Amino acid sequence: MNRIIVALDYNNREDALKLVENLSGVISFYKVGLELYTSVGPEIIRELKGKGLKVFLDLKLFDIPNTVAKASRVASSLGVDIFNLHLLAGGAALIAAREAAQEEAARRNQAAPKILGVTILTSSSGIEWQNLGFNCAVPELVMRLTERANEAGLDGVVASAQDAAVIKERFGKEFLVVSPGIRSTPHLTSPRRGEGKGKVDDCIPSPQWGEGKSEEDDQKRTLSAKEAFSAGCDYIVVGRPVTQAPDPKNACLELLT
Ligand code: C5P
Repeated sequence: MNRIIVALDYNNREDALKLVENLSGVISFYKVGLELYTSVGPEIIRELKGKGLKVFLDLKLFDIPNTVAKASRVASSLGVDIFNLHLLAGGAALIAAREAAQEEAARRNQAAPKILGVTILTSSSGIEWQNLGFNCAVPELVMRLTERANEAGLDGVVASAQDAAVIKERFGKEFLVVSPGIRSTPHLTSPRRGEGKGKVDDCIPSPQWGEGKSEEDDQKRTLSAKEAFSAGCDYIVVGRPVTQAPDPKNACLELLT
């Protein structure tokens, strides 16, 4: 269970901490993303760290090298265990971020955070990228971006679990793969399920999260938790299948069954 990161996707501290309390003894790694961070700021990270929990700060930094480096320094000073930046920010920004984060951790005499590059969002389909003029399939794009992360000396990438096996094969087992887009309901874009690949935008919608709830799912390139670990993922990131479940603790426990 220590390789499952639960996304605290809430707009207030109370709901986030209520879930943490509920999952106490089961989950020890939490993701603070855009919604929670823009709502409550860095204090939530200090609170989680104060409880002895691990934190993945998921802000997907994407800016010029100087700005990204300064934000990375702050992330490092907060003592987060993992943070990420977008690989499209380019090599100079990635290197500046890594150097700033490591320097700040060394200055404070604390462990440096793992830095992950975001490849292609698991909600993206091939069609979107083709429309932007990228003439290669999503898995190839993911590999090109992952190469950039590796060259810049990052610790790993955020990528679909569908890409995990190939990434591990090419970049080695120490290179981290952290995967969101974890779903027990099959999506047609998964090449491991059903017959072949399915059409690019053929996502099966609407897993049920909690009683009476049915909402369109934005995640497209998904695998189940068990499949993700078998594919070689180091960590999985799970949000709505846990946060919107009637019994979040049970939903966590069921992820690996
Ligand atoms: O609710 P769900 O399980 O889809 O949540 C996935 C979480 O992972 C969300 O917080 C989302 O912001 C995050 N994430 C993602 N894709 C990435 C990076 C992070 O879905 N490439």
